[in-house]
Amino acid sequence: MKTIKTYTISVLAAVTVASLFANGVTQSKSEDIAKKIPQETKEQYEKRMSWWINDRFGMFIHFGLYAAPARNEWMKNLEKLSNEEYEKYFANFNPDLFDAKEWARSAKKAGMKYCVLTSKHHEGFCLFDSKYTDYKITNTAFKRDLAKEFVDAFRAEGLKVGFYYSLIDWHHPDFTLDRLHPLWDKVKEEDFNKGRDMARYRKYMLNQVTELLTNYGKIDIVWFDFSYPGPDGKGRDDWDSAAIYSLAKKLQPHIIIDNRLDLNDVPGGTDFITPEQFNPSSWPKLNGKKYAWETCQTFSGSWGYHRDELNWKSTKQVIYSLVAAVSHGGNLIMNVGPTARGEFDYRAKRRLDDYAKWMHANSRSVYGCTEAPEKYERPEGTILTWNPKTKRLYIHLLYYPAGQLGIRFGKDIKYAQFLHDASEIKVALAGKEGAFCDKESGFDAHLFFPTVQPDQEVPVIECMMK
Ligand code: GLC
Repeated sequence: MKTIKTYTISVLAAVTVASLFANGVTQSKSEDIAKKIPQETKEQYEKRMSWWINDRFGMFIHFGLYAAPARNEWMKNLEKLSNEEYEKYFANFNPDLFDAKEWARSAKKAGMKYCVLTSKHHEGFCLFDSKYTDYKITNTAFKRDLAKEFVDAFRAEGLKVGFYYSLIDWHHPDFTLDRLHPLWDKVKEEDFNKGRDMARYRKYMLNQVTELLTNYGKIDIVWFDFSYPGPDGKGRDDWDSAAIYSLAKKLQPHIIIDNRLDLNDVPGGTDFITPEQFNPSSWPKLNGKKYAWETCQTFSGSWGYHRDELNWKSTKQVIYSLVAAVSHGGNLIMNVGPTARGEFDYRAKRRLDDYAKWMHANSRSVYGCTEAPEKYERPEGTILTWNPKTKRLYIHLLYYPAGQLGIRFGKDIKYAQFLHDASEIKVALAGKEGAFCDKESGFDAHLFFPTVQPDQEVPVIECMMK
């Protein structure tokens, strides 16, 4: 039995250095990889990313066999299951109520502009008709190529489409044991790895990425997940990330790729950063510079459908996640985990309805918006977003002000209104119109509010700026 290894810092440091020489080679150097992957100018990058940066808001869908146990997409790992013990979920899988058009309508109504579907998660089960494996949805009672129906339905609703593809594969016969594998502390490494060949697995991944980016039309995003280099881990050399990245760009040159191929240090090696399950409190940087980024989050804790999970975020929390991301120049991709019948469950539907209601009236403060210029100091209890094209500043009220709100950019406002009903919000400059702006406060104006908060979870003031 493998004992749980406990590393002292010095041992861990030694092991980390040693792992860089795993299989007798060091981790490929950044500059060597940069020569292997396609490069583009800053202008070409910005043009390619422009729709994604404008649209700001996407839907993640985590769907697979793990919807059946319904207790987190990592349950095979958490419960240390072998392929044989996990087989029952494949044998009984049939999402008979699946309707891609319904999924697409829900995403569109919620104001989401793109959607990324797990084509294969860590369990190794494919939602697409791959000719390189039998472990796929077309070999279940469902029989159909779900990925095909997904791309067709979401495109028909005008959304961009993407595939999430797991680099990890706990089912594949060539995938070797590592510290995240379900059987890590249940089998002897040398016994488990006998006959397994990661070179064959790397070829399998290239073949499947070719299928996904050839057989399903224009794919706008590919979301690889994830690398864990270091002791008993897998990183860019284990995946041959340079080959995967180059192949994706060759097959679909416009495609946007995330940063989990372990190429963050490689120039041109990632299109966006992926802070997970939190809102950064400033614009994230890559190699010292502000960079495109998207926070990926869930309505509850689990990415896959979790029947018994009770920690569902409130309406205000999920709206906050979106506007807070935009306020620091980023995107939000919010996840839905459909049930094993193929439907969004009632709790997800409730949150999507909340997004639909709020975005119906307030999406102008999201689409095309970004971080507000520093000169507009953020009033207490608010979040600012800014549309540089229309020169409109959006004040999101996280707490509804009692009567007045002091601001320091009143002189720059031409006109202000509630965004949801375009009703005027009075801007009273200091010293005029009864604004209580004493000199000490430093406010140059007050915004006046009706006593009762409007029927908006997060009311927004739209300010037309000079
Ligand atoms: C984490 C989770 C994985 C999920 C991913 C989405 O890696 O472990 O299950 O697919 O986040 O970003």
